[in-house]
Amino acid sequence: MPHYRRVGDVPRKRHTVHAAPNGDGRYLEELMGSEGFRGPSSLLYHRHSPSALLRIDEGPIERTCLVPNRPLRPHHLRTGALDNDTADDPVLGRVVVLGNDAVTISSVRAHESSPLYRNATGDELVYVHAGEARLESVFGALDVAPGDYVVIPAGTTHRWVLDGELTLLVLSARGHVGVPERHLNGAGQLLEGAPFSERDQRAPTETLAVDGEAVPVLVRTRDGLSVHVHATHPFDVVGWDGCLYPWAFSIHDFEPITGRVHQPPPVHQTFEGPNFVICSFVPRKVDYHPLAIPVPYNHHNVDSDEMLFYTGGNYEARKGSGIEQGSISLHPGGFTHGPQPGAVERSIGIEAFDELAVMVDTFRPLDLCDAGLECEDPGYAWTWARTAPATGVDTATG
Ligand SMILES: [Fe+2]
Repeated sequence: MPHYRRVGDVPRKRHTVHAAPNGDGRYLEELMGSEGFRGPSSLLYHRHSPSALLRIDEGPIERTCLVPNRPLRPHHLRTGALDNDTADDPVLGRVVVLGNDAVTISSVRAHESSPLYRNATGDELVYVHAGEARLESVFGALDVAPGDYVVIPAGTTHRWVLDGELTLLVLSARGHVGVPERHLNGAGQLLEGAPFSERDQRAPTETLAVDGEAVPVLVRTRDGLSVHVHATHPFDVVGWDGCLYPWAFSIHDFEPITGRVHQPPPVHQTFEGPNFVICSFVPRKVDYHPLAIPVPYNHHNVDSDEMLFYTGGNYEARKGSGIEQGSISLHPGGFTHGPQPGAVERSIGIEAFDELAVMVDTFRPLDLCDAGLECEDPGYAWTWARTAPATGVDTATG
């Protein structure tokens, strides 16, 4: 969880008059709080009313596409082949590939800046696969680069400002995303043994204090997109303080935990959300027992579906499977998966892996989207058996 932060011009006491300079009226206070104001919150000071709307419209209609993973099978989706043919920005240009009632996972390849936007259904966790951009919000600006995770709290009005191609993996949660409890002490500080520290977390350092005209803001709710036309630009904040704000953390700052023998996936845990967790697999020295097998054993996480997004290096256990950078693999509950043939033998005696991957383990099954299935590698399910689908096998049960 991010810690207390104070940026810009805030009054000495909360809930008191905050006079603008030169007798130019007073600033307007907004409490932005989570979990019924018992969770993390911040106080923001606006030049103009954040509630003043000039118009309310329906937003663009988004297609619902999710279908169950039936008959149950592992999948390999080549997201590098995906494009949104109706929009080219990080908000409307998303292509949903997987999802359930806890999280929606989208792939984005964008070239244009986004409209102003806020997600009222939950936090968004955005992973930057390629490209650089600036996230502007009511809290200020954050520059992001490849390898950055960006946590955008629910209700944060923001926009992505692009200067070139940007490729993202976007997780839209139905709730809040934060640092795993297992990495925190009782005071909420990251433990000495955690794989990252507060110094690795970045957040806005100054406000934008925009004094602009009326602007439309896209608002996402459970039922789709609406458009609120604000009377004045929402980035008019002159100061804020609190524990709720967008922040970034680079996967390259994740310090891997290794051992003499294979370490279980939870040592790679980076974030947790409602009914899902995120793990980071980063370049690391690997297991140093003289007989260690560094790639994972066959495994079946019976309560989870496991999605991996391959973002750099060469993932050791998947070599020979056709997995490439930008690929997504889905290994669902009900299916035991393990290293591809030959990976165990190749890994014995290896001292380091160069892989870089983001894993999402969901505690409920993930559905698939037809857009994602369009970039599916149809041979992936058979790569462990090294064969084409069997014919002439009686599949009758009993
Ligand atoms: Fe796995």
